[in-house]
Amino acid sequence: MESTSTAARKVKKSFAFFDLQAQFASIRLEILQAVESVLESQHFIMGQQVELFEKEAGAYVGSPHAVGCASGTDALYLALCAQGVGPGDEVITTPFTFVATAGSIARTEATPVFVDIDPDTFNIATDLIEPAVTEKTRAILPVHLFGLAADLRPIQQIADNYSLAVIEDAAQAIGATYYGQKVGSIGDFGCFSFFPSKNLGCAGDGGMVTARERAMADRLSLLRAHGTRKKYHSEIIGMNSRLDALQAAILRVKLRYLDTWIQARQDRAALYAKLFDQYDLTSFITSPSAPSHCGHVYNQFVIRCDDRDALRDYLQEQGVPTAIYYPEPLHLQPAFAYLGYAKGSMPQSEKACLNSLALPIYPELPADDQERVVSTIAEFYKSQVHHTRGNGTHE
Ligand SMILES: Cc1ncc(COP(=O)(O)O)c(C=O)c1O
Repeated sequence: MESTSTAARKVKKSFAFFDLQAQFASIRLEILQAVESVLESQHFIMGQQVELFEKEAGAYVGSPHAVGCASGTDALYLALCAQGVGPGDEVITTPFTFVATAGSIARTEATPVFVDIDPDTFNIATDLIEPAVTEKTRAILPVHLFGLAADLRPIQQIADNYSLAVIEDAAQAIGATYYGQKVGSIGDFGCFSFFPSKNLGCAGDGGMVTARERAMADRLSLLRAHGTRKKYHSEIIGMNSRLDALQAAILRVKLRYLDTWIQARQDRAALYAKLFDQYDLTSFITSPSAPSHCGHVYNQFVIRCDDRDALRDYLQEQGVPTAIYYPEPLHLQPAFAYLGYAKGSMPQSEKACLNSLALPIYPELPADDQERVVSTIAEFYKSQVHHTRGNGTHE
């Protein structure tokens, strides 16, 4: 027979890790109107919507130039190409990120050079960058992981000392600030993703590169459209990586809400921190770090915890969804085996893959769901403490 607690567990309904329906419901009419107006115009490639979005998004980020493109992955590749990175070059980056970061470097036929992370922020450890610089290094590619800015001042200092470009992977971090300045406007390039789960997400794939210099922005515009300024006349070899007019029209609507949504994410992060205190969890889990000079935008809310896999299984059993970003560091993945990194070579990244856990966060996440996440985490650790004490009595 089932115990009462097992039966009680079964009736607990699970809820969403991430819910885009709630956001859509709040802006449905405006989105439908934006889509309809593009359909009425039958103008799907480039044109006014894309130009306006580039202007508005560039102004939002605080960058003088913004060039829409087909995805965040292409944004990185385009920035690297615009900078002239290619075979024989090296680009320094982090192995604790989404594959596109290093994959884009490899696509240019340059070599990704991995540097371990700072365990407090999950971002590239700036003191390890300079020892990794060689005469082949052309750029540093920091990632503002989960929505927290990498420590760009020391990075820029090293870049200046060695004449390197700084290409910010801001795919997860639109709106995040570093000493009051928005990420993507600080380095030579800022690369953004509008994948639906990002803080500013479109209805499919989309991306954008911001550039500090006009010459670079011109080059990005050429590269994303087969090197053409004039129809059927290619100045350089490029590719097809345009942002669709439909996506641009949708993004223009959503950009107007971005700051409100970021605030809602920050409020939810603060509530998690409060609940961790209330439930006495601070000795078992570590909240994400948010240094005072950084405005964290919490694209993900990632804790560090003991017994991560057991906790995750327990939460799943209780209908509480979580995710792991990332289960495997890039330097140990088969795609990068050719680089020859050994297990143990990036200890902090490897550890983060074992003890980090993303909890649900999105602007409309109900407080009740957050309370349920935290109370269930507390149940898990309480049962663990009892278990350990129980074992202890065997002596
Ligand atoms: C850190 C990072 N870089 C790059 C990308 C690539 O963006 P996209 O999925 O739009 O190609 C992502 C998206 O998941 C990302 O999280």
